[in-house]
Amino acid sequence: MTDLALRSVGLRKTYRTKGSPPVEALAGVTLEVRSGERVALLGRNGAGKTTFLRIASTLLRPTAGAVEIFGVDVDQHPERVRPYIAVVPQEGKPFFHLTPREQVYTYLRARGLSRETGKARAEAALEAMGLTDFADRLAITLSGGQRQRTMVATVLATEAPFLFLDEPTIGMDPFARRSVWASLRALSRRGSTIMLTTHYLDEADELSERLYIIDRGVVRVSGTSEELKRSVGGTLKVHMPGGAAEIERFRSFGRCVPDGTGLTVIAAPERLGELMGVAVAAHLTATVGPVTLEEAFLNVVGRSIDEE
Ligand SMILES: Nc1ncnc2c1ncn2[C@@H]1O[C@H](COP(=O)(O)OP(=O)(O)OP(=O)(O)O)[C@@H](O)[C@H]1O
Ligand SMILES: [Mg+2]
Repeated sequence: MTDLALRSVGLRKTYRTKGSPPVEALAGVTLEVRSGERVALLGRNGAGKTTFLRIASTLLRPTAGAVEIFGVDVDQHPERVRPYIAVVPQEGKPFFHLTPREQVYTYLRARGLSRETGKARAEAALEAMGLTDFADRLAITLSGGQRQRTMVATVLATEAPFLFLDEPTIGMDPFARRSVWASLRALSRRGSTIMLTTHYLDEADELSERLYIIDRGVVRVSGTSEELKRSVGGTLKVHMPGGAAEIERFRSFGRCVPDGTGLTVIAAPERLGELMGVAVAAHLTATVGPVTLEEAFLNVVGRSIDEE
């Protein structure tokens, strides 16, 4: 094993379907994930996130380039990689004729765990995902969020060294999402490496140590959440209703984004006092808040849309 949990070099995927034009889903993705790291792949619908995860988790073959998991090429030796990974696929569903308890336990047994370990891990994962009350109902009778929790519980219970989760918290209520975050953090503290995708940027911010923004099959930007936020040009946003008419007064403070009659300025904290002085002089009220990952994402991907 190496210190690198995942290494992708020039990964390309072109889908070819008869009767349909080819789709270049990945156009050369190069990235690395250190052992024990939690990373999130972000990107618009169709950016290539699921394609990347499917290739990295041995479910799909690349067109070119390579991915190694713990130093083993996934395309050449999928059978050697599989014991080290577990996957929550996008839009996966539990087996409808199994209960969550059976589903989690059966999966662990299929992965070669003993009865005792299987039982103990299944109970802990069901509990962590708040499924105890539903654990003996057939999956077909569960709500959408309960089914998704079952999928996540199944994979968490493996405690695999590398977990892939494609939109794991989709459809979950805010409490369930937080349970997932807590469980993933606990697993990563114990050494598991985690790669997830999500469209919830608060989740990405909360959970991941490193973010990759993928756009049209390539990595656009990578960094910590703080780095991405700083790349927007400041760490505070100041909103002033009615400020659009006074935009010229604020240009020197940072990026100015008018919205209707209001104005948002992305500014560095050092200049906040000065900015507020200008706002008062212009008879404007201002609310100050932190720049969120959402603004950073819109900024990065928005720029690339402009270039299209
Ligand atoms: N089986 C397939 N056959 C042909 N094209 C596909 C197939 N799966 C995905 N694509 C195309 O490949 C591109 C990348 O899709 P992918 O599912 O990787 O995106 P994604 O980033 O996961 O999007 P989302 O956020 O919507 O889940 C898209 O243009 C998609 O239409
Ligand atoms: Mg996807």
